[in-house]
Amino acid sequence: MFSSVRLRLTLWYALAFGLLLLGFSLYVLSSLSHDLRSAFDQALVRTAETTASYFDEFVERNNPAAGAIETIRELSHGKTAVAIFRGRQALASTDKDVVALALRSNVVGSLAAGEHALTTDLNRNERLAAVPVRINSVVYTVAVAESMRELTDELARVRRIVLFAMPAALVLAAIGGFFLAGKSLAPVVTISAQAERITAKNLEERLEIKTRDEFGRLAAVFNALLSRLDQSFRVMREFMADASHELRTPLAIVHGEAEVSLSRERTAEEYRESLSIIRDNSKRMALIVKDMLDLARADSGQQTLRREELYLDDVVTACCRSAQPLAQLKGVTLNWSAEEDLSFQGDEELLKRMTVNLLHNAIQYTPSGGSVSVNLHRENGSGVLTVSDTGIGIPPASASRIFDRFYRVAEARTRSDGGSGLGLSIVKLAAESHGGAVSVASKPGEGSTFTVRLPLETL
Ligand SMILES: Nc1ncnc2c1ncn2[C@@H]1O[C@H](COP(=O)(O)OP(=O)(O)OP(=O)(O)O)[C@@H](O)[C@H]1O
Ligand SMILES: [Mg+2]
Repeated sequence: MFSSVRLRLTLWYALAFGLLLLGFSLYVLSSLSHDLRSAFDQALVRTAETTASYFDEFVERNNPAAGAIETIRELSHGKTAVAIFRGRQALASTDKDVVALALRSNVVGSLAAGEHALTTDLNRNERLAAVPVRINSVVYTVAVAESMRELTDELARVRRIVLFAMPAALVLAAIGGFFLAGKSLAPVVTISAQAERITAKNLEERLEIKTRDEFGRLAAVFNALLSRLDQSFRVMREFMADASHELRTPLAIVHGEAEVSLSRERTAEEYRESLSIIRDNSKRMALIVKDMLDLARADSGQQTLRREELYLDDVVTACCRSAQPLAQLKGVTLNWSAEEDLSFQGDEELLKRMTVNLLHNAIQYTPSGGSVSVNLHRENGSGVLTVSDTGIGIPPASASRIFDRFYRVAEARTRSDGGSGLGLSIVKLAAESHGGAVSVASKPGEGSTFTVRLPLETL
């Protein structure tokens, strides 16, 4: 039930408002009661004093008994009961009750001059004020009593109003709070409704940002997350499309070759030729799959480097030697130089694949008669490998993309011997997983230079 923020906010709001209202009402009621009661007391004492001073004149004239009756007749009115005592003897009174009340309160005859006493009769809800009049060592007491009914009725009325008004105000506050909370939370509802519609299929959709407040920022953060997800999904989709496209050709060749061979009886020579085509294409597929697997492993952080002690110059020299026949076949001169004893901690197989990929590219994209030169040297604590060729070069627009997976410059794509476009991705992976970097400088028609920097001091 309390899972709704709107409801919780409303309840908190009503609770806070209710406590505030309760505190305020209690304060107002108690101070009102106090003020009314003290005003009532003051008026009562004043009446008692007026009566006492009126009576005083009769006593002065040595006529207290008649004076008491006269005083009461003159000054008492409807709702005020008066009694005048000499000592504890009642000289005159408006009724018996006030005499009894005054005597019961034990103030009659015990008050010093200038004092006054106030007492309440809870049974009859009456308040009594007593004032002494002392003449010639005789103490007279003037007692005045008045019903407090009007006062208590008034207080009860106010209390009732507050009691009824409080729940009403609380309900109104809760309703107001409910609407306010609803209004403040409306953007959240909109955001979640919009977000609910976004799935892997429409990741390009974005949340509408209408405000610049906290919710606006939340939507912006969510949109940024969507953009990143969209980007990764797109890369993944492209990768899958490219991968299946790359594998489709060799698969079709393998399948076609097998079909043709099996369609009728062939000579041993023909079978051998077919099998060698099938072997070459399977090899190509295996290479593509291996490259893809390595790249996928690197993406998911699962790639583990087998670091071992090795000499970079040995790796480079071995690769150049193995690429020499290919260069000769292509009519490209390959020469290399390597600084000796460049010891390094790294994955030999990966470093070999990196060098071979660079060499093959250089040979592959350099026309017959051109040259490829490889150099390895130490520079600022790094082993620097450069592979330069005098080949076709790379158009500036493609230079930033050649390290992307499956990317091939448009002309290269049409070449019959064009690769899968994973070679440089592996070069980049190898350089970066050894803490290094690869860069390219190229001029179309003049040649390209690939430079790999590998920090020698690896942690
Ligand atoms: N030395 C170079 N000279 C000119 N273009 C190059 C050179 N090296 C790479 N390229 C361009 O960069 C593209 C990507 O190279 P990459 O090695 O990744 O793929 P590939 O050679 O096409 O295929 P493979 O996966 O078989 O290596 C190539 O298709 C080519 O267009
Ligand atoms: Mg290549």
